[in-house]
Amino acid sequence: MLEAGFLVLFIGALLLSHKQIKSVILPQNFISKPKNSLKTKENDESESISKPSPLMITPEEVANYDDRPWRPFRWPYHQTMSIFKLDINHWLDMDKYYQHYINEKKRIRMKYGKQNFDWLPEGYDACFELMETVTQHMLNRYPLLFTLLKDGKGKVVKNEVTNEILDMSLPLKQHPLIYVSKMAKEDFYVVLKNPKDGLHYLVAAAVPFPGGSFGIDSKIGKHLDIIHEDVPYYKEKLQKSMERWFNKMNVNEPVERASWYITWDSHLKVNNIYQIAKFKPNLKLEMESTDPKDFNVRVERQTLRRLPKSQAIIFTNHPVFYSIEEMKDEPMIPSILKKILYEGPQDILKYKNFEFIRDHLSDYLDKLIKRQYELAIINEETPLKTQPNYPFAHWVKTDFDQLKGWNNPSDSYSKQHMKTHGFNKEKLANNE
Ligand code: HEM
Repeated sequence: MLEAGFLVLFIGALLLSHKQIKSVILPQNFISKPKNSLKTKENDESESISKPSPLMITPEEVANYDDRPWRPFRWPYHQTMSIFKLDINHWLDMDKYYQHYINEKKRIRMKYGKQNFDWLPEGYDACFELMETVTQHMLNRYPLLFTLLKDGKGKVVKNEVTNEILDMSLPLKQHPLIYVSKMAKEDFYVVLKNPKDGLHYLVAAAVPFPGGSFGIDSKIGKHLDIIHEDVPYYKEKLQKSMERWFNKMNVNEPVERASWYITWDSHLKVNNIYQIAKFKPNLKLEMESTDPKDFNVRVERQTLRRLPKSQAIIFTNHPVFYSIEEMKDEPMIPSILKKILYEGPQDILKYKNFEFIRDHLSDYLDKLIKRQYELAIINEETPLKTQPNYPFAHWVKTDFDQLKGWNNPSDSYSKQHMKTHGFNKEKLANNE
């Protein structure tokens, strides 16, 4: 009887208009049963996967929503796994760039095909499980952005932001990774353990936004050691701990990490910093004539989780751009950036092409550092080291808004400012 009462209340709550729901101030970790998570026999199996709580933003609000502000800058800077426990709510994030990223995914897939999207037959089941997991995650986490239209032999879902209907009824008309790329803005890597040698290798990838240093065609089917062979200090610092960690990773223990580099654009497939003379002959000139204020840090925000049925490891990567300018009043950020650009580990400086840009940014960073002293944001005694709120901005805990996300309080930041405003696909270099 009591349960029936709760059910009536619950359905009543769902019937409230969104305007009414909006007027209630929701705490950050607000948990209620999402409308699509009523327990059925079919999704019983996925009970073991942690479920996200709903974030009640509307398609209109997405255009103004900022995600968590990443500041993954460390000093001293050593190559380490640097992984953190992932709050499952943030597996697949939403922000004002969502529509642009989804459009770009499609354009890049149509134009570059296997260079960015590829899969091996033995990875199909894992990709299918990934598609189901992403679908359920989006329905649970963003109930106003994804609508379940039909649930029978496979789901039919409407993406309310792009207005696209994703017909995943069986038999599927497209590869599961294509559906995934129409729901989430992240890049996806699907990794399986090879039963013959017990090592992990890449069986499928939907990676339209590698940033420029590699193409997926050179990684598919390869073991993680080969994939990481160009990564600085991989053998000495990462290899052993990564393989050990992959072997014991559990389904409900997802993690996240972030890496970063600097560039003077916000392209997704190939960034200027990784461009080559063949496609941009005047690269140096273009770089030097760009105002340092227009330089961005590209954060590569990554997650890792294991799927229960296939046991595949899913690695996601998602670029987010922050201008150095918008971080200028955050304690120590300009100082740490300058320090890394000139005194970071040699091989990392090379891998990230820091030597190419650092002299152009040097005066600008010095000015920002001076400004921090003048405004007493830092003083002579402030230690130059990783900041307490790493890997996020210092203001992240206090400035969360359920409907607008995280808001940078700095004057130099405008919520309306979109780094992709100037995006013009006609002007992209021939490799992008
Ligand atoms: C704990 C797990 C992992 C760690 C610590 C790690 C670490 C790294 C690091 C340090 C880099 C260099 C760029 C940077 O500074 O971040 C890198 C690059 C890369 N990682 Fe990983 N990685 C992990 C898992 C994976 C997985 C599961 C895949 C999936 C195949 C993957 C694919 C790549 C690729 C494609 C690159 C670019 C390599 C290149 O430049 O050619 N990583 N990784």
